Amino acid sequence: MRKNIVAGNWKMNTTLQEGIALAKELNEALANVTPNCDVVVCTPFTHLTSVVNTVDTKKIGVGAENCADKAAGAYTGEVSASMVASTGAKYVIIGHSERRAYYHETNDILKEKTLLALANGLTPIFCIGEVLEEREAGKHFDVVKKQVEESLFGLSSEDFGKLILAYEPVWAIGTGKTASAEQAEEIHAFIRKTIADKYGKEVAENISILYGGSCKPSNAKELFAKENVDGGLIGGAALDAASFMGIITAF
Ligand code: PGA
Repeated sequence: MRKNIVAGNWKMNTTLQEGIALAKELNEALANVTPNCDVVVCTPFTHLTSVVNTVDTKKIGVGAENCADKAAGAYTGEVSASMVASTGAKYVIIGHSERRAYYHETNDILKEKTLLALANGLTPIFCIGEVLEEREAGKHFDVVKKQVEESLFGLSSEDFGKLILAYEPVWAIGTGKTASAEQAEEIHAFIRKTIADKYGKEVAENISILYGGSCKPSNAKELFAKENVDGGLIGGAALDAASFMGIITAF
């Protein structure tokens, strides 16, 4: 059966010292709690090793927010999937809308990143989602279908089954505007059906599809109650241990 997952995405926030303090606080908050979901924190590259060493990694998985689309070599400033894995991190966010929009990451580039992440034993948290104009034009189903098809449908069903997907409507990220639970459920069900058509019902039923975009303690319960919403990818609310805990305990 598919897992419930709450994953934090710290983005470009916190100094190393602040990040360690946040990880410590979260670790302490979870020490005597058995959450009904897997917990993951995705941090800047510079923080990975320290966060891995700060938390109980049996309780809190650690991930990167990105990795390179090349394996190694003369790519100044890039960080490879094998480097991420060598820190002890187990996850990597791929295709976040901010990477797509600001750093021009295409479906083809994201396909390479996904292959490298998998080859290095990392679990990709692969993000898809439409911008406001696409939603208003009723194109959101086509947009997410194309993102999944072009980046992921070349994978074997075994590899596809290792992914976590995150549906994040771009208009809801950091805006305070959340998709309603019904909007989330509608598109999550569509994504699962798209996967079932390609890989069969079993693969589709077993994959976790997270919702992201202004998810917070006050709306997490309603979102997570939906059949096809298996957790959240959390930005702003993951920067505060108490509010992140409020989302984790929504399960
Ligand atoms: P947000 O970000 O929770 O701050 O809207 C979510 C994300 O971008 O992953």
